[in-house]
Amino acid sequence: MRPYGGEAARAAAATIQPLFGDIIPEVAIILGSGVGGLIHDVSDHVEIPYGDIPGLTGVSVAGHAGKLVVGRLSGKVVAVFAGRFHTYEGHPLQLTAFPVRIAHALGAHALFVSNAAGGVNTSFAAGDLMIIEDQLNLTFASPLTGTAEPGDVRFPDMSNAYDPELRACLHATGDRLGVTLRDGVYAMLPGPAYETPAEVRMLRTLGADAVGMSTVPEVTMARMLGMRVAGISCITNLAAGIQQTPLDHKEVLETTARVTEQFQALVRGFVAEL
Ligand code: HPA
Repeated sequence: MRPYGGEAARAAAATIQPLFGDIIPEVAIILGSGVGGLIHDVSDHVEIPYGDIPGLTGVSVAGHAGKLVVGRLSGKVVAVFAGRFHTYEGHPLQLTAFPVRIAHALGAHALFVSNAAGGVNTSFAAGDLMIIEDQLNLTFASPLTGTAEPGDVRFPDMSNAYDPELRACLHATGDRLGVTLRDGVYAMLPGPAYETPAEVRMLRTLGADAVGMSTVPEVTMARMLGMRVAGISCITNLAAGIQQTPLDHKEVLETTARVTEQFQALVRGFVAEL
């Protein structure tokens, strides 16, 4: 069995499925830095620490809760991954995307991702929420490398990686709730150092609106599996060189704390419309 492949994911799903009875998650949600509070909105839930999930056993998630919460949100059965794996922690890309494989093996057909990101677009402000319309994989590596099995799509199409209908649905939900939403392209760099001002200028030239250190592997995996994807970046700061003060993870967490209620309302409303 290939580590982090489909067979491993099905084995992991078969191990944990009995823990939440016969309910089948429809939507997988991966929560980024500082927005883990959404798990408190999930009712009738079962919590499974990552350490109890084969394939995730023995790997820690720095600064994140590190658990899977399965339950109901806005009338849908959801599988919420509170805490993600990053390559900057030394994890293989294949592991960063493995929760998506597990969610798919459990039955989820849609993925909602969130992250904290620096604003590259100079019209953005800290605290903005950005609907991700496309991504730039600036790691130039793929979580699909070496994990393909018979039945997997070998060369997945990424034309509409972030589903246009789901993006429209996020906009409609934002309008209904009075939450202003931006649109933009998310670029992933490996980190963990924040970018230099020169790199931020390069990112802007390349067409990025926001930059972070996650999300792209999970979305690539979800598209290979045929899942529909939607995502929100919380712009926690303006990227290096735009803001004049040094970047600091404390600022990231302060901003997410400020917008977490808006974010949670948006996700609840969006999941209801799915
Ligand atoms: N750069 C990269 N990742 C980030 C940033 C940033 O400015 N802010 C939050 N995550």
